[in-house]
Amino acid sequence: MKARIVYASMTGNDADIADILEEDLQDLGFAVETSEAEFTDASDYLNSDLCIFVTYTYGEGKMTDDVADFYEQLKELDLSGKYFAVMGSGDLIYADHFCENVFDFEKMFKKIGATEVTKPVTIENAPDDDAIAKIDKTAKEMAEKLND
Ligand SMILES: Cc1cc2nc3c(=O)[nH]c(=O)nc-3n(C[C@H](O)[C@H](O)[C@H](O)COP(=O)(O)O)c2cc1C
Repeated sequence: MKARIVYASMTGNDADIADILEEDLQDLGFAVETSEAEFTDASDYLNSDLCIFVTYTYGEGKMTDDVADFYEQLKELDLSGKYFAVMGSGDLIYADHFCENVFDFEKMFKKIGATEVTKPVTIENAPDDDAIAKIDKTAKEMAEKLND
């Protein structure tokens, strides 16, 4: 199984989340490629079985340019037959907008035909031990569903 992780990160938290997930998935037998949204074309997902997007949310849910550009590219794809998962970091002080971009991408992946393999994982700010445990558990769920 090939997994492709694309992440967007302003201050490093989502880059850390992507790293943790990458290592977990490699340990579980996935071939994983990871890259930053700004330097990735969404069509790269077409070469993978499992498409993962990890993102921060800024500006009360309004997408920043790097995230918005990737979202526009994603919109044009047909990912029928592929699996997807989303996760990301936000801050609960933004209340209704907490991790809003994670859920925007969840909706878009569904709209373009991909099948959700695990529920969105939302993490508050930098991943602490509990968050790392949540990422590890999610990676195991992915492996149980897809690699058996
Ligand atoms: C100007 C600004 C706006 C933000 N807006 C939101 C928001 O709307 N929703 C949210 O959940 N978090 C928001 N955050 C919090 C960030 O998403 C959070 O700090 C996240 O961990 C940053 O991830 P990164 O280190 O990968 O860039 C905001 C942070 C800043 C500085």
